[in-house]
Amino acid sequence: MDESVTFTDVEAARDRLDDESVVKRTPVERSTSLDELTGGEVSLKMEHLQWTGSFKTRGAYNKISQLVADGTVERVVAASAGNHAQGVALAATKLGIDATIVMPTAAPQAKVDATRGYGARVELVGQDFQAAMDHARGLVEDDATAFVHAYDDPAIVAGQGTLGIEMCEDCDADTVVVPIGGGGLISGIGTAVSELAPETRVVGVQAEGAATVPDSLDKGMPVTLDSVNTIADGIATGGVSELTLSLIDEHVDEVITVTDGEITRAVLLLMERAKQVVEGAGAASVAALLSEDLDVEGERVLALLCGGNLDMTMLRTVLIHALTDREQILRLRVRITDRPGEMGELSSLIADHDANIRHVRHDRSVPELAVGEAYLVFEIETSGAGHARTVIRSIRDHGYEVSHENA
Ligand SMILES: Cc1ncc(COP(=O)(O)O)c(C=O)c1O
Repeated sequence: MDESVTFTDVEAARDRLDDESVVKRTPVERSTSLDELTGGEVSLKMEHLQWTGSFKTRGAYNKISQLVADGTVERVVAASAGNHAQGVALAATKLGIDATIVMPTAAPQAKVDATRGYGARVELVGQDFQAAMDHARGLVEDDATAFVHAYDDPAIVAGQGTLGIEMCEDCDADTVVVPIGGGGLISGIGTAVSELAPETRVVGVQAEGAATVPDSLDKGMPVTLDSVNTIADGIATGGVSELTLSLIDEHVDEVITVTDGEITRAVLLLMERAKQVVEGAGAASVAALLSEDLDVEGERVLALLCGGNLDMTMLRTVLIHALTDREQILRLRVRITDRPGEMGELSSLIADHDANIRHVRHDRSVPELAVGEAYLVFEIETSGAGHARTVIRSIRDHGYEVSHENA
């Protein structure tokens, strides 16, 4: 197989994927909330609504259907902690061959269950993704078994590129914004956009704690990170490949990075304003639109929401972070005389302002306290920063010393 990808390959992939039960055409919707926040005219490609919750079935099906057509392969193997696992599982089941997916032992149970639910055999091996990958490669012992890489494969890239065709057909954008992990997604989309809308700017987005593309482009070779640190696990690959780096170099105009704080805010904004549940990697495009580093004022923009598999533990983390940020959850440390009734008095004061107490505890062993004094630490819920200030002022007005810290 030719080791690069052309628009012809992407068109051929689209023909193979012409089955709504494998890949559906996901909608493009306008977002007036994001218009206001960016000064642009923003649309969202809702690929998080794809079967399996991400675009990954596109590449996997394109790859596996060619293996099946060749006639020698009876089984595929892949390593993944998330979306690629589900994409390969569904594609293999649809094409009638066995799939074994190796996941790290700590993979969230919901993702393991979903992958099994799509018909794959799951092996839980290794502490991290690399260990799972080494084990998966070891399972390829004969010609009847093929390894399906998550991004370093022209067939995977071409399959992801079918999204680029849809994006060009459904939106006449000045700029498209696409998250980058291993680079398969943006390589495919870039290949399609360069052909169909050569004037359109293609912007890639990486999580700051897993950003490898800027350095790799500078050095002219893939740079890998020993460890990655981001809540956006879908784009935490820690490296691109020679194939994807060369396609990024050819088709992508700009690559920017976003922090986990920006990603968290984007996840929340999409939930609150657009009513969409999108995982961190999927929301990175919107995080980029909201960041200082990308100016889309006056432009028509299409941001790709590429995944919706936000697990519940991550959702809780995102919510607590955001609520704390907005002072809808906060901790108040109040210095009291340690005698009966003080806690009741303060609790009533807080309740009088309709703030809800989540937890309360006494701190007595604090060096700065005089004998007979204590701190009461309340974790409370408010409706926002203004409400929080009213509660604090009222406690102060009743003669207490109070400080405020993040919960
Ligand atoms: C939701 C989501 N977005 C983006 C990506 C990045 O894709 P790629 O690794 O092809 O760059 C992934 C990869 O797993 C993903 O799951």
